[in-house]
Amino acid sequence: MRLILLGPPGAGKGTQAQRLTDSHGLVQLSTGDMLRAAVKAGTAVGLKAKAIMDQGGLVSDEIVVGIIADRIDQPDCRKGFILDGFPRTTKQAEALDRMLAERKLKLDAVIEMQVNDGVLVDRITGRFTCAKCGAGYHDHFNPTKQAGVCDRCGSTEFTRRADDKAETVVPRLKAYHEQTAPLLPYYEGRGILRKVDGMAEIDEVTRQIGEVLKSVKA
Ligand code: AP5
Ligand code: MG
Ligand code: ZN
Repeated sequence: MRLILLGPPGAGKGTQAQRLTDSHGLVQLSTGDMLRAAVKAGTAVGLKAKAIMDQGGLVSDEIVVGIIADRIDQPDCRKGFILDGFPRTTKQAEALDRMLAERKLKLDAVIEMQVNDGVLVDRITGRFTCAKCGAGYHDHFNPTKQAGVCDRCGSTEFTRRADDKAETVVPRLKAYHEQTAPLLPYYEGRGILRKVDGMAEIDEVTRQIGEVLKSVKA
């Protein structure tokens, strides 16, 4: 199964991709996570990406397409993958089409996570992540069961993203509406766009995505 999760910053792409990884054994391919790892490691890509990410802009198509092309050839992707945060521009979508065609692979579904912009600042500014296993949480909407302890791995260390500030959300949303939202008609035209209610509670969103996957398999 090969899926794209499409939605604005804070829509819940990462949250749902992690759940699909646990439940369906699909690999989560998050270009945001890969770029943050590159920034942390201080690689050439990381050095180029850091300032752009901090300002809430989009990193160049060339860089992210290169990252994804390398990644989908890894053996763990054979069973399927979930693209989280890629593609984000029409150029990236076209590059993905070419990559898949060359490998005789097809996309099963593009899932749009529909959310109102108004809730996104709260979601983004309350987000935190386990420093050890990467599990995602939220101060109010998705806290750890025991305060300060990761549910998944027991770690007590957490991080917050450099771009998760209220003032950075505005350019990130602008980038989404101007450069990424045009992908909705792009995939609609191919008949593979499905919509879920990203405003619902996390478990309900997971249920709706499960329904989409069932209908795709059938
Ligand atoms: P990226 O890491 O992809 O960030 P993003 O798209 O801005 O999305 P987020 O990760 O902020 O949101 P999400 O949808 O994953 O939400 P989450 O599940 O965490 O990209 C970061 C940057 O990297 C970009 O700005 C760009 O610079 C660069 N980049 C990355 N990919 C690129 C590309 N392809 N091309 C160019 N540049 C690229 O949920 C958010 C919070 O809400 C969490 O705390 C969660 O617990 C909570 N939550 C989730 N669902 C719900 C719910 N249903 N109800 C209540 N709370 C919820
Ligand atoms: Mg994310
Ligand atoms: Zn953890």
